[in-house]
Amino acid sequence: SKPKVVVTRQLIDQAQALLDSRNDLDIVQWNSEKPAPREWLLENAKDASGILVMLSDKVDEELLAAAGSQLRTIASFSVGTDHVDTAALKKRDIRLGYTPTALTDAVADLTVMLILMAQRRAGESMGKVLKGEWPQMPWHPLLMTGPQIGGSTVGFLGFGRIAQATLKRLLPFGIKKVVYLTSKPGQPAKEDHFGLLENPSIPVEPAENWEQLAGESDVVVVGCALTPSTKHIVSKDFFMKMKKMAVLVNIARGPVVDTNALVEALDTEQIFGAGLDVIENEPNIPADHPILKQPRCVLLPHIGSATIATREQMAEESVENLLAGLKGEAMVNEVQL
Ligand code: GLV
Ligand code: GLV
Repeated sequence: SKPKVVVTRQLIDQAQALLDSRNDLDIVQWNSEKPAPREWLLENAKDASGILVMLSDKVDEELLAAAGSQLRTIASFSVGTDHVDTAALKKRDIRLGYTPTALTDAVADLTVMLILMAQRRAGESMGKVLKGEWPQMPWHPLLMTGPQIGGSTVGFLGFGRIAQATLKRLLPFGIKKVVYLTSKPGQPAKEDHFGLLENPSIPVEPAENWEQLAGESDVVVVGCALTPSTKHIVSKDFFMKMKKMAVLVNIARGPVVDTNALVEALDTEQIFGAGLDVIENEPNIPADHPILKQPRCVLLPHIGSATIATREQMAEESVENLLAGLKGEAMVNEVQL
């Protein structure tokens, strides 16, 4: 019988066409614009050789057990893998594909946008215009002023591809210095993704600890993976160490930042502002959530990779990873478990 693959949503363009062309596979695909329900996935995973999942699909012992022992491959339509129990995959010798390279540029673009929006009070300013308050805002030399990107020290929590692609974009703005913290504090980044670290035009230095990074930075960019050691690393203590004119940007995962501490830091003007693409408990952010009452916080609904070109490429690579996993061939990008 044909190998079974399960795909938890309809894909787009080339990726869907590639999948549709595979008559040698038994393809079970969720057929609605809403996310596939957990029960549907658990039911249909039975006897699957490969599963293509979205960020919203948990890949855990329960799913692996429901699938059974012929499961060889998981392909995730994402760069993050915190929705996947990687230890469980490793134990069962199941390979994991993901799409880290496809979305680097799109997320780095958005990161720069959030930095500028936070520093230049874009959300706050537009909010006033939308509320018809512009007539009550007579011009003043300091009207809606904020810190300037040129001359800023930028601190990266996590210094992988997306962070380094952000750095590349920030250099022409005239930033002054970069500090970064990885899982090996004080040590040089292990990968120089864009050849920026060898002979940098400005100091680019590993921080000894988060305290140093928080204290030195005018801009803090959260770009690390969510793990037990990064959860709430941006805490009340972190905000206390930050400069009053500094901004925080999170394009990684919500739980890296303690939301209550962020609300308090904004309330008490401990920091200048924030730009978030992610937040704890997303997407369940009701209209009365305290973060939405903060004029100095821009919150976007996790759209970092949302350009048409990037989503097309992520879809294609996810299918290619799935097919390569079934055949035991090299994936476009595979997580080393
Ligand atoms: C987005 O957050 C992703 O992990 O792809
Ligand atoms: C990510 O860049 C890390 O090493 O923490």
